[in-house]
Amino acid sequence: MERIPVAGPWITPKEISYVTDAVTNAWYGKANIYNERFEKAFADYIGARFAISLPSCTAAIHLSLLSLGIGPGDEVVVPDITWIASAAPVTYVGATPVFADVDSKTWCLSAHSLEECITPKTKAVIPVDLYGNMPDMDATRDIAKRRGIAVIEDAAEAIGSEYRGAKAGSFGDAGVFSFHGSKTLTTGEGGMLVTDREDVYQRSLVLRDHGRRPGDKMFFNTEIAYKYRMSSMQAALGLAQLERIDELVARKRQIFSWYRTQLADTGGVTLNYEAPGTKNTYWMVTAILDQKFKITKDLLLKWMSEINIDCRPFFHPLSSLPAYEHTEQSNQARRRNFVSYQINPYGINLPSGLNLTEKQVQHICDALKVILQRHGK
Ligand SMILES: Cc1ncc(COP(=O)(O)O)c(C=O)c1O
Repeated sequence: MERIPVAGPWITPKEISYVTDAVTNAWYGKANIYNERFEKAFADYIGARFAISLPSCTAAIHLSLLSLGIGPGDEVVVPDITWIASAAPVTYVGATPVFADVDSKTWCLSAHSLEECITPKTKAVIPVDLYGNMPDMDATRDIAKRRGIAVIEDAAEAIGSEYRGAKAGSFGDAGVFSFHGSKTLTTGEGGMLVTDREDVYQRSLVLRDHGRRPGDKMFFNTEIAYKYRMSSMQAALGLAQLERIDELVARKRQIFSWYRTQLADTGGVTLNYEAPGTKNTYWMVTAILDQKFKITKDLLLKWMSEINIDCRPFFHPLSSLPAYEHTEQSNQARRRNFVSYQINPYGINLPSGLNLTEKQVQHICDALKVILQRHGK
């Protein structure tokens, strides 16, 4: 069988025609038309007042922090299990990331650990909708409200997921999304910031455009800021994908259901959890192996790769990475974050690309079962 990639998009003639139109026509007076349409349609889909298209989700987190006034001396709580992009912008603005533990079922921020991590310096929390799973948003928002801290929801991996009927990304002072090529909705590279807050929106517009307010006197910048704009070709691709979002999400859920069926009778394998009252869009189908197999994620990745199946490791705790290794926050997190350290060594992301077939899923699951049988005794 051909090599099975771990992730990838679903592009149809619709996307190609929108991008072709953008590259042909979105210039001069029409330069912004696709960005405007994409932003408007995106805000409507999420149920937010405002959306700003950006070159990446990392940029969206950066602008969210800046526009919420977070800076040197402040602390921001992030889950220990996530991609480094959730935390790196905290350092960009001169604040300190504090790594909280995750919940053993959702693998997302533990509300209990969040509460423990809050100090008088804490200004915000960044809950992450990991792999499309939803954290306990009610508890997170209650704590944030009670302790007077802002919420930036990192929904990079969770477009279309829901919590009590509301869309992922709609729960914070700001919500952020990634459209990287591996994501459910892609623009190649790209991101979006959504918010209901007029002040966050207005401030982000200035910050993303070299310190200019839309309509300001030309070339007369009021401050030093950033160049964070999405191109019209990317916006056209995003708009076409957004118009197909129900189909993209349904396919993700179908891929997960194939895995669930194939692995239903295989003991010792835990797949993504869909908590009551939530809808999971399963960006990455993820398997945590029981420790009894004594198979680490690195070994499993290697064995799967040898038979042409590309997988990814479950995120290593941020506090274990060389990037953060020597910080005091990491030392504390390594002692505190029992769940993060217990599950991450045994987790992998299984192939979840939108072009995956049921036959390929069967092949992947057969391979996994053979490995587990060999090691289960
Ligand atoms: C949880 C999470 N946050 C943030 C990001 C950053 O997204 P981008 O690559 O668009 O900057 C990613 C990207 O993979 C992610 O998975």
